[in-house]
Amino acid sequence: MNVCVIDEKRRLKPPVRWRKDVDFVLIRQQEIAKRVKEIAATLEKDYQDKELVIVALLSGTVVFLADLVRHLELPLRLDFMAASSYGCGTVSKGVKITKELKLEIQGKDVLLLDDILDTGRTLKATIERLEGLNPKSLKTCVLLDKPARRVVDISADYIGFMIPDYFVVGYGLDYAEKYRNLPFIGVLKKEIYEK
Ligand code: IMP
Ligand code: MG
Repeated sequence: MNVCVIDEKRRLKPPVRWRKDVDFVLIRQQEIAKRVKEIAATLEKDYQDKELVIVALLSGTVVFLADLVRHLELPLRLDFMAASSYGCGTVSKGVKITKELKLEIQGKDVLLLDDILDTGRTLKATIERLEGLNPKSLKTCVLLDKPARRVVDISADYIGFMIPDYFVVGYGLDYAEKYRNLPFIGVLKKEIYEK
């Protein structure tokens, strides 16, 4: 799939009601909506006549997933996994799977969905877990990719946006479990991260 690269110098003005916390907007609501539609169109082509199971990682994917699946005219099923990284704030180290699948995925075409591919540890750990369940195929889809921070050699099959090395929030992504409800993807003011 094509890539959509977000320039490092991009700094858009946040909506008035978020200006107290948000330094700048990196990706606008309308841009996300357009890109999600494009991803859905690609998935529809690739998964025609397949038994698709989307496995979404909680909680960061909820907004992306909800928008994406409503563009997909495919007979798909949804399931969820959760992984938590030990470490705190914006720094992660190891990964533990904290919620397992409910559906049987053996022999099925599985698409693993995450909000952001950062160091790659989360995706690697969940891919290993899913591969052990013998799916027919396993592909990965992330809304955001931050290649500058990668420590594990891994890439996603479908990528929404490639972004510079900022800690971002919104459209499902959180800082300390907050800001998931922002309709755009943005960067918080320094003083919020330092609180
Ligand atoms: P990784 O294991 O380092 O690739 O990190 C993946 C997880 O860390 C994601 O699923 C997010 O929950 C979280 N994460 C990484 N970067 C960011 C960010 O910029 N904003 C919010 N969450 C992030
Ligand atoms: Mg997360």
